[in-house]
Amino acid sequence: MGFPQQRPRRLRRTEMLRQMVRETRLEVKDLVYPLFVTGGHGVKEHIGAMPGIFRMSVENICKEVKEAKDLGIPAVLLFGIPTYKDPVGSSASDPDEPVQQAIRAIKDEYPEIIVITDVCLCEYTDHGHCGIVKDGEVLNDATLEILAEVALSHAAAGADIVAPSDMMDGRVAALRQALDGEGYSHIAIISYAVKYASAFYGPFREAAGSAPQFGDRCSYQMDPANIREALKETFQDLAEGADVVMVKPALPYLDVIRAVKENTHCPVAAYNVSGEYAMLKAAAANGWLDEKKAVLEKLLAIKRAGADLIFSYHAKDAARWLVDNPAVER
Ligand code: PBG
Repeated sequence: MGFPQQRPRRLRRTEMLRQMVRETRLEVKDLVYPLFVTGGHGVKEHIGAMPGIFRMSVENICKEVKEAKDLGIPAVLLFGIPTYKDPVGSSASDPDEPVQQAIRAIKDEYPEIIVITDVCLCEYTDHGHCGIVKDGEVLNDATLEILAEVALSHAAAGADIVAPSDMMDGRVAALRQALDGEGYSHIAIISYAVKYASAFYGPFREAAGSAPQFGDRCSYQMDPANIREALKETFQDLAEGADVVMVKPALPYLDVIRAVKENTHCPVAAYNVSGEYAMLKAAAANGWLDEKKAVLEKLLAIKRAGADLIFSYHAKDAARWLVDNPAVER
């Protein structure tokens, strides 16, 4: 049956009608807000390519967490800028480093907020790779032991969820075994199961000082051309004990989010990464895009593709706009 019996515009006539038949609703509860924790006191440093995002010391991180919590954002993701770096990333599992301090401080003040931590070595190694390096190669199995120590240090500090983003094979199993062995069987794992070797991480590497000092990450992160391999990584991580699987980046990979959603029964996360944030902020700053509309549209699109959780630097702004916007679900 076609026109004139069918007139799809009938259901688009008013905002009330559009709301009634809306298929996807973006909610503040879908959002996770990433934060960069650094050492010192009273530190709040701008990140050039990420306007509105800062590197902050622990007490400023706590203020930020309170703001996020008051806006209804349920979870934060912590990245660390360590006070020292070495070839094996020792600072990543040091209980006195900024991330571990921030976890304790946040959990002390706001126990209900979900603290997720990034488990990786690239911010903590002097060569900037996500694993330990020998003769120019990133070693897989030797890195697993170090990652397990990092996850344990986060759990010991009070993290609710650990999120390995290193892309070593077998790291979910290594983390699960280590956590279970130390009495942390209740701590969940969000695996960056499907993480592509992407140019869209550029601004993050400036923010976290984590650019590789030689080569690139193509021997461990995924080839952007592959989607069947995304399912292979997903199934493998679920078999190893991942509770949530993530696809990263989000916008250039909406087809991958959909494929992962249709082929699993677990919650699916998507990471709206730094480059996706920077592009939109730059266009908005030039007056080329309406920032609020563009942000809400892209987050909605990521949800429509199948993401249950959306990690985004826009989280605070989006939360404010969602509350102000009766057309979108609170
Ligand atoms: C660490 C890590 C990266 C991001 C999250 N965890 C950078 C990378 O893999 O180089 C990127 C996040 C972003 O771009 O917002 N491995």
